[in-house]
Amino acid sequence: MGSNAVFAREGRAWDEIKAELAENIAADMPVVDPRVFKPAYFHSDEILAINEQAFALYLHENAIYGGSAYPSLKRYEEEIGAMTLELLNAPAGAGCTVTTGGTESNFMAVKAARDWAREALPGADRPEMVVPRTAHPSFDKAAGMLGVTVRRMAASPGYVADVDAMADAIGPQTVMMVASAPPYPYGQVDPVPELAALALHHGLWLHVDGCLGGFALPFVRELRGDFPAFDLGVDGVRSISADIHKYGFAAKGVSTLSLRDATESRFLGQAFDEWPAGLYSTKSLAGSRTGGALAAAWSVMRHLGREGYIENARRMLAIKDVFLDGVRAIEGLEIVGRPDAYHFAFTADGYDIGGVGDALEEKGWQIGRAREPDSIQLMLNRIHEGGAPAFLSDLAEGVDAVKSGRIRSRGARAIYIT
Ligand SMILES: Cc1ncc(COP(=O)(O)O)c(C=O)c1O
Repeated sequence: MGSNAVFAREGRAWDEIKAELAENIAADMPVVDPRVFKPAYFHSDEILAINEQAFALYLHENAIYGGSAYPSLKRYEEEIGAMTLELLNAPAGAGCTVTTGGTESNFMAVKAARDWAREALPGADRPEMVVPRTAHPSFDKAAGMLGVTVRRMAASPGYVADVDAMADAIGPQTVMMVASAPPYPYGQVDPVPELAALALHHGLWLHVDGCLGGFALPFVRELRGDFPAFDLGVDGVRSISADIHKYGFAAKGVSTLSLRDATESRFLGQAFDEWPAGLYSTKSLAGSRTGGALAAAWSVMRHLGREGYIENARRMLAIKDVFLDGVRAIEGLEIVGRPDAYHFAFTADGYDIGGVGDALEEKGWQIGRAREPDSIQLMLNRIHEGGAPAFLSDLAEGVDAVKSGRIRSRGARAIYIT
């Protein structure tokens, strides 16, 4: 091996590496910063500390051995599942599987629907799923891997799922439909009751993607119930994903998939015994998983309790209102749809919103961007409490600069890439 191999033969002192890590992370975008509106899901320093301490305690335990070696992890998993089912109005007989993230939860929902359809809809041997324009790309990822064809709608009239178009797209091969509560691009909850009625009428599996809203909307609803019901309380919803590592405020690595009928969890996991090392049984896609993520999620949920999440919702709604009012007060800016959770997008009538985004970025704001219409997207968290005036003043300046022609868009696109 040459002396300039990437994987060096000689190790280096931890102190040196640690210094390099510190230098590298300082050059990254800060995760928690009032100028960052990309997803960060910050609640408080206290919750950060709970995540860090609980995660560190269980960092080295592998949740795959929860059932055999680490009964506390198995218990956390069961209790996270039970709390989630209760939160999402699950009927008796429902079941919840804990996964590593929203993508895995949605993947498992597609897998469950596909395998259920093999029994329930034997004529659908080339399975298809009908999804709204705004459904998260994790569905296309899952469908591609699972041999399911995605029928994605062409538009979102009124910024929600196009129920009529979805009804028209249902054919003999359709096995599944998707709704989002809320979708990532605009934040307005899809009309789940209407889609659930459609699914029931055609005997299809309706999955609700509650990755963003699952741990926010139930509490927002207690304070302000001005959006449609979206969870397992709606007859016809067969499964719902909800991420604890988003607005549930747990460290990354924890999401949930709840099924109306726990017996259908046979379509999720797999037990395998035909090899020399004995029974291998898992309830989702992942094999080894850190116990840290489970312990952190369990601790945060227990620490906050329902009251903690409701208080958070109260504060988040107050933050959102100040931002929304401020944006609306600037001439030509319009909120896209009706943002039901903690994020929203806004567009411009008569001038270029892309240029406004560029002006904000030049001043150090880290914004999101969306399309259809071109818009600026803000994902709020508690670090934005009190942060609206500074943002709104730079926003107003950016708008003036674009209107007067001092700034022209450099054509930055909505982008979401690893
Ligand atoms: C609505 C929605 N669904 C699914 C996902 C995927 O979640 P994850 O990134 O945890 O895999 C996201 C991520 O932002 C999302 O916003």
